[in-house]
Amino acid sequence: MSTVEQALAVNSAQRDDRQIDQEFLAEVTNGLSTIQKTLPCKYFYDEKGSQLFEAICETSEYYVTRTECSIYKQYASEMATIIGEKALLLEPGAGSVKKIGMLLEKLVNPVGFVPMDISQEILQESSEILSQQFPHMSIDPIVIDFLNKEQIHKIFSTLPVQPLVNKRVIFFPGSTIGNFDPEDATIFLKQFADNLHVGDGLLIGVDLVKDISILEAAYDDKKGVTAEFNKNLLDRIDNELNATFSAGSFSHRALFNQDKSRIEMHLVSDEEQTVCLNGNRFSFRQHETIHTENSYKYTLDSFSLLAKKAGFQLEKVWTDDKSLFSVYYFTVV
Ligand code: TRP
Repeated sequence: MSTVEQALAVNSAQRDDRQIDQEFLAEVTNGLSTIQKTLPCKYFYDEKGSQLFEAICETSEYYVTRTECSIYKQYASEMATIIGEKALLLEPGAGSVKKIGMLLEKLVNPVGFVPMDISQEILQESSEILSQQFPHMSIDPIVIDFLNKEQIHKIFSTLPVQPLVNKRVIFFPGSTIGNFDPEDATIFLKQFADNLHVGDGLLIGVDLVKDISILEAAYDDKKGVTAEFNKNLLDRIDNELNATFSAGSFSHRALFNQDKSRIEMHLVSDEEQTVCLNGNRFSFRQHETIHTENSYKYTLDSFSLLAKKAGFQLEKVWTDDKSLFSVYYFTVV
């Protein structure tokens, strides 16, 4: 055996022995045991999923990222003025180096930037890029599960205060808030409000309600990148949880649910079939769906109201000239 072959053999032996992620397994089992089957969306983002998401952002139909960036390009100076001097920026989820970069560039004497993410690797990568772009800025990445109340409280209680820092500002772009149900979104934002001081800020990007055909196309592009992204979840479950989904027998579907003002992503079973998952069997009727993700769409008023319920007051909102997307600056009252 050559050294390379030996290394490969060791690698595959390690893979066979690998412990199954019990939390992942439990969440998938629970999701498939309800009448409307669901799968947990947080598992979309393995390496392949993250690459596919980047490819979604490049499709002509997915206007979200491109439009949000155009808003920062046009209004970052205005945002910087309203935020003021000596701000400490915090970003839960460290995905968008480009967006925070556009903002940091315009801020006056920012005290620093704190990217927060559950993945050490992603954090390190984005922090390195930003330190090159802003060599004099203090960048302090923190590994944290920002859905965990205790962890958030602990981190926020140690943040620097006056006179070092004028205000803390949370940056939450990408309409990620739209992937929470409105009730959960309110609880999530309230948790931040409770850990901030009066006058601290929230700069948040949120997708707007619009023509259904534009919305549905954005989540079902012609090249099938979003379909691949959705089906990658089944591949992951097959590979990591010993399952027998074969993504080829499921189709991607995106539809706008007008009553709930949300895009729903589903995986539709093309045929009647049974799937094994680590010893359990799950049957599917033909055309039965697994609901994988929601992306809620708001109006300027409906989102301002949600943020108000969470303890934030609207200071200013920016949109693009087609009113596709909105960026809000709120302060804690
Ligand atoms: N939050 C963004 C949105 O809802 C990005 C996103 C999350 C997304 N999950 C997705 C985009 C699934 C396409 C498909 O648009």
